[in-house]
This record gives sequence, C-alpha cells and structure tokens, in this order.
Amino acid sequence: MDMNKVYVREIERNDEKKLKIYQSEIGDVGCVVWDAAIVLSKYLETDDFDGGRLWIDKNVVELGAGTGVVGLMAASYGANVTITDLEEFVPLMQLNIDTNMELFNNKVDARSLKWGTDLESTYSNIDVVLVADCIYYGESLEPLVKTLDDLSGINTCVYCCYEERTSDIKQDLQNKFLRMVKQIFNIEKIPLNRQDQEYCSDDIHILKMTKLKVT
Ligand SMILES: C[S@@+](CC[C@H](N)C(=O)[O-])C[C@H]1O[C@@H](n2cnc3c(N)ncnc32)[C@H](O)[C@@H]1O
Repeated sequence: MDMNKVYVREIERNDEKKLKIYQSEIGDVGCVVWDAAIVLSKYLETDDFDGGRLWIDKNVVELGAGTGVVGLMAASYGANVTITDLEEFVPLMQLNIDTNMELFNNKVDARSLKWGTDLESTYSNIDVVLVADCIYYGESLEPLVKTLDDLSGINTCVYCCYEERTSDIKQDLQNKFLRMVKQIFNIEKIPLNRQDQEYCSDDIHILKMTKLKVT
C-alpha cells in the first residue's frame, strides 16, 4: 500500500472514540467512504442495537466493504467481523483494521469475497450481514443476491443501506434488486426516526432483511 496515496477520514462514535479510516486517491469506487456507509455505521450505534451493546460477540460479515468502515464500526462494539471485497481491496481493508486495532477485542479480518462465488465453510453461523452502497452494478446484481442468500440462515439479519440514485439505469437496478430480494427475504424499511438523527437522509435507505420461512 503506497502511504503517499492514502488519506484519513475520522468517523466519530457516540462516545467520541474515533475510527480512523484510510481512503485511497487511486483505485475504484471502493477506495472512499460513501454516504450510505456512514449512515449505516451510525445506525449501528442507535437504540435498535442498545447503543451498540447488542454487537458483542455477534458474527458479522460485510460485503463490498471498500474501506471497511461499517464492519469496523460493528467490530469496535465487540462483534467478530470479516470485512470483504474484491481481492484488490484487501490491502486497504487490512490497513484500516491495523490502524484501529486498539478499538477491537474480538476477531477482525479482511478477505477477498467476490459475489456469486461459492462460499468457504468459514462463512457459517453468520448473525448479521452488512452491505452499504452495493446496488450499483448491473452485472453483479444477481451474484450479490446469491451471496446474500448463501450467507443467510433463518436467524441471520441483513442490513442493506443504499443511496437512491435518480438516473433511469440506477432506478431500474434498485427496482430489480428489490424484486429479487423479496423472493427470499422479509423486508423492513428502517424509518428515519430510528436512525442516527444527524447522519440520516431522505434519499438513503436502510433495509433490514430476514429469510422468508419455508413452509
Ligand atoms: C460503491 S462501493 C461501496 C463501498 C463501501 N461499502 C462504502 O459504502 O463506502 C461498492 C463496492 O462493491 C464492491 N464490489 C463490486 N462488485 C463486486 C463483486 N462482484 N464482488 C465483491 N465486491 C464487489 C466494490 O469493489 C466496491 O468496494
């Protein structure tokens, strides 16, 4: 990792502890922290999670993590977390783990996970899957939904946060994603009044998804 090409962004927790997240000047969209990632990170500290206490010892996977900020927020509250993205993002995710090590008591690792590929056996008994701003690519929409399905057991919760984009192509993608996930998951939209009151927005949505019961 070329340290001349990275710069840090601080994400403050409610108790004023700070996550230091490196972003990269060069590389694809995953190299920076997106607004949906901030909204989802700050939601993890709300009353829905008892101010963060509900993360202790949860097994968490973040998909398309980019810098890893969402998963690292959960890790800073005591979850066991694997942050994942394409292989090229592993060094940036690892740098962000190493930089914030003092905030973590449990297992935190960074791994390559390309959506749609077969999952290694280590991805079992996952309590929570986190996804921020990944409804973005036409070609990988079906692989993303397959990986969400593969990671989720009957007790797994997926939190999927996305920014509503207004171009026709992106709206088609969002609608297609919603149609696909509705075949597999119950979907609850988290209202703004349950989100962090500073870091929320009308055009950024958080969905809580749990597997439909097979009858
Ligand atoms: C818009 S970025 C969001 C990054 C981060 N979640 C955030 O919100 O700051 C989308 C991420 O999805 C990842 N991604 C795209 N296609 C993927 C695939 N097929 N498998 C795994 N990750 C993928 C990208 O590398 C990128 O990091």
